[in-house]
Amino acid sequence: MIGRIVGTGSYIPQYCMDNNDIAKLVETSDEWIRERTGVARRHIISGEETTVSMASVAGKRALENAGIEPEEVDLILVSTISSNVILPCAACEVQKEIGAVNATCFDLNAACTGFILAYNTAAAYIAAGVYKTALIIGSESLSNLTNWNDRGTCILFGDGAGAAVLAAQPEASETSETTDKPEASENDTSKLFIPVTHSNGAGGEALSLKSRHDANGLTKEVDKEETFDEAHYMQMDGRAVFKFAVKKVPEVIEETLQLNKLKKENIACYILHQANRRIIESVAKRLDEPLEKFPMNLEEYGNTSSASIPILLDEWNRQGKLKSGSKIVLAGFGAGLTWGASVISV
Ligand code: UT7
Repeated sequence: MIGRIVGTGSYIPQYCMDNNDIAKLVETSDEWIRERTGVARRHIISGEETTVSMASVAGKRALENAGIEPEEVDLILVSTISSNVILPCAACEVQKEIGAVNATCFDLNAACTGFILAYNTAAAYIAAGVYKTALIIGSESLSNLTNWNDRGTCILFGDGAGAAVLAAQPEASETSETTDKPEASENDTSKLFIPVTHSNGAGGEALSLKSRHDANGLTKEVDKEETFDEAHYMQMDGRAVFKFAVKKVPEVIEETLQLNKLKKENIACYILHQANRRIIESVAKRLDEPLEKFPMNLEEYGNTSSASIPILLDEWNRQGKLKSGSKIVLAGFGAGLTWGASVISV
């Protein structure tokens, strides 16, 4: 069996901070942020919104989009680095909220590569025949983890959630009436594609968060002067992460295409983690692919870590741009260091 994406959903907080709002907090400018990152605005949770509440709405919308009842879901996976709850896991909280009473639930932390790994995990369970229907969600309230005094990071990040439903469908070779399994053809979309993923713990210092607030849980209020500890917030060597991304992302995409015997002309588009416009432009150039094949929405949302790929996937789905029969590469990279690519067919 293969796990095919049959529905998507997302949730974006209404409250929005543009670059001029950020320039009131740190020494920066709208011009610098747009030029160096491509980001113009980011949406930030407020009021009752949390990582779990966003995940629940995105998940519900994905199920509605798929026409699948919550009771049919066997697996809920939430990818997050910024959950408002530690115990129980965010996925169990989502289960409670949406009524997916038959699902097995757990969270996964692989930073900005998290959605790729959630997709791969769900797809592998489905391929093994363990589960039939999986709801995978990337949800982040990075505003809680952002040092709003640090212009090297606070310009980049935003909050949001995206989700996809994977449903088991027979692989092309399984539907054949002959006993010999034929090779799936290049144009066959009912094929199990093998993902490629990597990690390099030795590079972990480039993007880290050493400890959490212990008194009041996660809070986005800037610490009082006397208690401020930057270890409570994300710390990043931006240049190091940039160099890592522009080298490793095209490499892992090439590796994935090669492994699955796919040519670039077979790929309709590349949905990359939305971290920085310049990174995406560089990946396109290194792959020798037109930039038009790399949809972007980071101008509006900034970098939402593991939520960025499913939010973009949902936008494209709802705009009718995921053409049936086409193949799409998803690729992510981030803290860990972690990176990987998966081919999906729609
Ligand atoms: O999800 C994965 C997570 N992270 C990423 O993907 C981040 C990858 N890295 C990046 O996106 C970029 O490295 C940044 C956007 C973070 C920084 O851009 P950069 O082009 O690498 O800038 P830089 O750190 O090399 O700094 C260039 C200059 C420096 O000034 P000098 O030394 O040349 O005088 C910085 O002090 O820009 C200065 N600078 C800023 N100026 C205005 C750094 N940050 C800012 C800022 N506003 N926010």
